[in-house]
Amino acid sequence: MCGIVGAIAQRNVSQILLEGLSRLEYRGYDSAGICTIDKNELNCIKTTGKVKNLKEAVKEKGCLGTIGIAHTRWATHGVPSEVNAHPHICENLALVHNGIIENFAELKEQLIALGYNFKSQTDTEVLVCLIHHHLQSSDNLLQAFKAALNEVKGSFGLALIDKNDSNTLYAARSGSPLIIGLGIGENFIASDTLALLPVTRRFIYLEENEIAVITTESVNVYDLDGNKIEKTAVESDLDTESISKGRYRHYMQKEIFEQPQSLQNTLLGRLRGDDISTETIVGSDENSFKDIEAIQIVACGTSYHAGLVGRYWLEELTGIPTNVEIASEYRYRKAVVRKNSLFITISQSGETADTLASLRLSKEQNYSKSLCICNVNGSSLVRESDFTLFTKAGAEIGVASTKAFTTQLLSLLILALILGKQKGTISAEQNHEIMENIRKLPNLSQEFLECDSQISKLAEEFSGKHHCLFLGRGVMFPIALEGALKLKEISYIHAEGYAAGELKHGPIALIDKEMPVVVVAPDNSLMDKLISNVEEVRARGALLYIFISKDAHIKQDEQTRKLALPDCPEILQPILFTIPLQLLAYHCAVINGTDVDQPRNLAKSVTVE
Ligand code: F6R
Repeated sequence: MCGIVGAIAQRNVSQILLEGLSRLEYRGYDSAGICTIDKNELNCIKTTGKVKNLKEAVKEKGCLGTIGIAHTRWATHGVPSEVNAHPHICENLALVHNGIIENFAELKEQLIALGYNFKSQTDTEVLVCLIHHHLQSSDNLLQAFKAALNEVKGSFGLALIDKNDSNTLYAARSGSPLIIGLGIGENFIASDTLALLPVTRRFIYLEENEIAVITTESVNVYDLDGNKIEKTAVESDLDTESISKGRYRHYMQKEIFEQPQSLQNTLLGRLRGDDISTETIVGSDENSFKDIEAIQIVACGTSYHAGLVGRYWLEELTGIPTNVEIASEYRYRKAVVRKNSLFITISQSGETADTLASLRLSKEQNYSKSLCICNVNGSSLVRESDFTLFTKAGAEIGVASTKAFTTQLLSLLILALILGKQKGTISAEQNHEIMENIRKLPNLSQEFLECDSQISKLAEEFSGKHHCLFLGRGVMFPIALEGALKLKEISYIHAEGYAAGELKHGPIALIDKEMPVVVVAPDNSLMDKLISNVEEVRARGALLYIFISKDAHIKQDEQTRKLALPDCPEILQPILFTIPLQLLAYHCAVINGTDVDQPRNLAKSVTVE
């Protein structure tokens, strides 16, 4: 979702800004723009569509300057168009903005009454005019910036320049992430560290309601009352390798195939014999969760599906009652919070607006502790939670979550073991067996990836369909939901996940020859029940795609396509059976010719409500 890059240097910054925007493309956007200060004039260029269009326009028109800001926009207020694209300009000021100004309509009316004219439909143009308005009665731009921000309601990550001062870049954040990259004799800002990796690895994270005043030599940070705040720089451990496609055609494909390595990284340095080191959960010790009597998990999308799987493990291994809820629902519900409850958020990005709002709400509720399972160090969720369990998936660029999901699942299993140990609910033998199985996971995931060519053949027949059902039972039900989500979001084939036993309560009416049914059928304790459900579907003429453990028996006929998968321990089945579903979605999307890494209308990190 929208991306920001800004730079101040002693060299021309336009290539740094454009490269930064290219690195933010994965977040999803529909238009882009850049503005530098050249000879005391604002030089602003905007285009719709991809960043490559902006690059061509910059090449044609020229864009010089040692200070500048740039943006990729994912439309919220107003259609995707050049006029609505950022930066927005008011006289001497240019502004880019991530987030939503909720009271923009009333501010716009006030500004119109004061004589301001608006070209766009955006809330951002209102904000830049508001800053300009305050500048008329302020001593300097910092004062005007603060005054305007004190008037707005909503969320923002902002970068601001003034053509009358090419030595200062301004930035501010509230609810939308922003980082400052530190160079030598040059400094940068961005909404995501990935944008700046070619120019620096040292970052300062802006916190809520902070404003930064940045020159080539200095970075000063203030709160909205003007008090100076001391900040510490941190070194990023992300490598530039992680953001190239390497030999793969798409990031999503690369990230699916990286899973053996990312699962290995989730385990790295954490397993000590049959123990898991206490450092695995940052901020915790061996007693942190002893008194926990209830768990509430909150997340969105794929991360929510991980939570649904986690509930099975947490309840089985710890005996702690566990609830799982979609963040956008949780935050507007009056939840009953039990004594000694742990609040868990799950998020790849750590910036998802609804998940973050739920965490903030949980602090006003009666939870005793908060823990996040997250992939991004320094993200808002990490900084605002009591404890963090890092998934260590590495940078995930493809919009559809793949390796982030399987490492979230492994992290949840690790969490269940840690809690089970602290609560004394898990026997030494059970713990030993699970630890042994966990160690096999990276190799087993490699074996599961070997079904790739078979799945690409299945996809040839499958990709022509318009609708599809995914069925699973027990802990494989959330995996069916995830398989359906993956397929619909990147191939645009309508897909729904169902608990197989629920089918006869309504959805079975949909079954006919045109409705393929994917059955996630590992050999486990619910296999017989699942087979009965499969027979009900078969009897109604459905075309069946059964993803099944290789030694498990299933009736074969011309209606059935069987994909035999390696045997694996039951506890690992949700993680491993996800892999063929990801591959099915990937190959269908490639055949259907969709934009696999940046599917239409989607954003990687959903930082607005
Ligand atoms: C789907 C997908 C989304 C995200 C969701 C939450 O493939 O990626 O459903 O899982 O937007 O994002 P995070 O995990 O960053 O909070």
